Amino acid sequence: MAQQLNRAASVSTGHRPVMLDAALDALNVQPEGHYVDATFGRGGHSRALLARLGGEGRLVAFDRDPEAVAAGMQLAAADSRFQMRRGNFADIADELPAASVNGILFDFGVSSPQLDQAERGFSFLRDGPLDMRMDPDGGQSAAEWLAQVSETELADVIYTYGDEKYSRRIARAIVARRSEEPFTRTVELAEFIASVLPRSHDGIHPATRAFQAIRIAINSELQAIERGMDAAHVLLAAQGRLVTISFHSLEDRLVKQFIARHSRAPQGSRRLPPAASAALTLRDLGKQRASDEEVAANPRSRSAVMRVAERLA
Ligand SMILES: C[S@@+](CC[C@H](N)C(=O)[O-])C[C@H]1O[C@@H](n2cnc3c(N)ncnc32)[C@H](O)[C@@H]1O
Repeated sequence: MAQQLNRAASVSTGHRPVMLDAALDALNVQPEGHYVDATFGRGGHSRALLARLGGEGRLVAFDRDPEAVAAGMQLAAADSRFQMRRGNFADIADELPAASVNGILFDFGVSSPQLDQAERGFSFLRDGPLDMRMDPDGGQSAAEWLAQVSETELADVIYTYGDEKYSRRIARAIVARRSEEPFTRTVELAEFIASVLPRSHDGIHPATRAFQAIRIAINSELQAIERGMDAAHVLLAAQGRLVTISFHSLEDRLVKQFIARHSRAPQGSRRLPPAASAALTLRDLGKQRASDEEVAANPRSRSAVMRVAERLA
C-alpha cells in the first residue's frame, strides 16, 4: 500500500472531470443517499459528489487502476463517508447489496494520468513499454497480445474498435514484422503503423485509431460496460439514477441499447400496456453533451455524451 501511495503522489498530472455539474445534477444527489462512482480516476466526480452529501450520505468508488485506487485511499483516509475499492466495474453487483444504491456514475475510458505517463504505454506520442493495461497486474499487455493474436482477429479489432479503413493492411504488416522482431515500445509501433499507411490529411496521427482499438481490446472495455450496466441495474434502488459519460460511439451505443431494452415496450406490444409496462424497469431521461464553454476549456469533453436513466420500482 505504501508503494501504491508513493506512486500516486508521484503523479504530477491530474484529470479534469468532464460534465461535472451536469453529471451531479443528473444523479439527483440526496444528502443522505448512497452512491457509487464506478470509475474513480483521480476523483473529480467523487469529490464534487461528497460536497453534496450530508453526514449520513455514503459514496463507494471503484477503479481497476492501482494508481487511481491509491489516490482514492488518500481521500478515504480523510473522509469517513467515502470508501475506495479496487476492481472491475463489471463485478460491482458482487460488492454491494441489491437495490441499495441511489445513484451510479460511470465515466468511461482512460484518465489523463494514464495517457500522460509514458510508462503506462497508452500514448503513441510518449515512448514507453507497450502495455496499455488499466490494471497492470492482470491480463495481457498490448505487447504480449500483439505477439500472438491472429492476423484476422487483429484486423477485425482494428476495424471494429478503431473504425480504421486500413485495418487489414496494418494487421498484415504487424504480423509480418513481429516474426522478425516483436513490438515492445509505443513509439516504435506508432511509427511502424505510420510507415505502412498513406500520408494522413486529417491532422490526426495515423496510429490513433489502431492504438484506441488495441486498448479497447486488451482491457475488454466493451464487455466490461455491458456487464457494468447489468450490475448497475441490480444495485439501483427505486428512483435511483444511472449516469454514464461515453467518449466514443461504441461505448455510447451499448448504454443506449441497454437503456432502451429496459425502458421501451418491445415493438408491436404497445397495445398491451399491462404486461409490457410491468416489465419495464428504467425510465429514459435522455442524453446531453458538454456545453460550448466546457468544450472550449477542455477539448476532451468534445466527444462526451452523457446518458441518464432512472430505476423504476
Ligand atoms: C475517465 S477516467 C474517470 C475520471 C474521474 N471521473 C475523475 O473525475 O477523475 C476513467 C477511469 O475509469 C477506470 N476504468 C475504466 N474501465 C474500468 C473498469 N472496467 N472497471 C474499473 N475501472 C475502470 C480507469 O482506470 C480510469 O481511472
